[in-house]
Amino acid sequence: MNKGIYSQIMKELKKAHDEDYHFSDGRILGSMCTKPHNIALKTHSMFVESNLGNPGLYPGTKKLEKKVIKMLGSLLHNRNPYGHITGGGTESNITALWIAKKITKKKEIIFPESAHFSFHKACDLMDLKPVEIGLDEKYRIRVDEAEDKISDNTACVAGVAGTTEFGAVDPIDKLSDICAEKNFLHVDAAFGGFVIPFLKELGHNLPDFDFKLDGVCSITVDPHKMGMASIPAGALLLREKKYLKSISRKPVYLTGVQACLSGTRCSASVPGVYAAMKILGKDGYRKIVKSCMDVTAYLSKRFKEIGLTLPVEPEMNIVCAKVKNPDRIIRMLDKKGWKISKTKKPKCIRVVVMPHVTRKVVDNFIPDLEKVCRKNGEI
Ligand SMILES: Cc1ncc(COP(=O)(O)O)c(C=O)c1O
Repeated sequence: MNKGIYSQIMKELKKAHDEDYHFSDGRILGSMCTKPHNIALKTHSMFVESNLGNPGLYPGTKKLEKKVIKMLGSLLHNRNPYGHITGGGTESNITALWIAKKITKKKEIIFPESAHFSFHKACDLMDLKPVEIGLDEKYRIRVDEAEDKISDNTACVAGVAGTTEFGAVDPIDKLSDICAEKNFLHVDAAFGGFVIPFLKELGHNLPDFDFKLDGVCSITVDPHKMGMASIPAGALLLREKKYLKSISRKPVYLTGVQACLSGTRCSASVPGVYAAMKILGKDGYRKIVKSCMDVTAYLSKRFKEIGLTLPVEPEMNIVCAKVKNPDRIIRMLDKKGWKISKTKKPKCIRVVVMPHVTRKVVDNFIPDLEKVCRKNGEI
């Protein structure tokens, strides 16, 4: 190897890496991902060659994927789930709507205004018709409106268990009732899937949202968000084998069957999900969720103390505060090294209280936020 070129490349890569933000810096406040568990990082590099798009070559990784799907199923009240690891919530949602279209041969997709934009991507890609449903005062889907919109053309009704902007939990139990096993019900729990089960255990009053409900056909859940896995690790869980079969292909040039959107797929995160879930167990995740919710309560209190108003009390670990000009606040905080995000309606600044957002991070952030908000007449 030419040592000169090697060290030049490494220097260049180090520069790029240094330019990036890192969760451990305690400056990223608007991401739904976090620093993965150490065991997930370690195993990721061990399995970089794996490609479950050609599963016959990777029987070991394939077995791990099956175990992971079963473990996720057990978290979400399904002992015998079907499904696979995906590149993330977007791919899982697109795949779910693809399945709904194939199964029902219909084209209308009913989902709340709060749904992630991957639903619109799916509609664009597959020429599906989006039917958007309004929200109640807590930013949850209006079930009565959804019920009114169900028609003979409905391919899928979707609800969100932990919305991207406010962390609202749609009343999936009521959606399940109105679908009454006649309509394909998909639940996007990309963020909430690793939070809500533990919040319920901690005594929070949240509706059922998973396979415990008879109407739920498929669930998106992302281990690379609150599951502490490395990116990319999403998952799509399905109630019935026929859903998976509807999208199965057996390409002649590959080993085995593909029943997913991706061809070659990054599979190195599969053992990481397995390892993180094994090592953390339910107790570990419950502790993480509890700690995030404690910081959420603390951040909410600090927001209010400096004169900001929350649009809603957080049900999950996302805290928003109403401001007139979020872009300006974000720009000025950016100059001070903070990476926060915003919401559209109502206009808010938004902090996702991931495990790397500690009380200490909040204490460092609030004085800068207060200064910026004062300067802009927001408080
Ligand atoms: C509720 C929800 N669904 C889907 C997604 C898309 O996930 P990904 O970015 O992993 O594709 C997100 C992303 O934040 C999300 O919050």
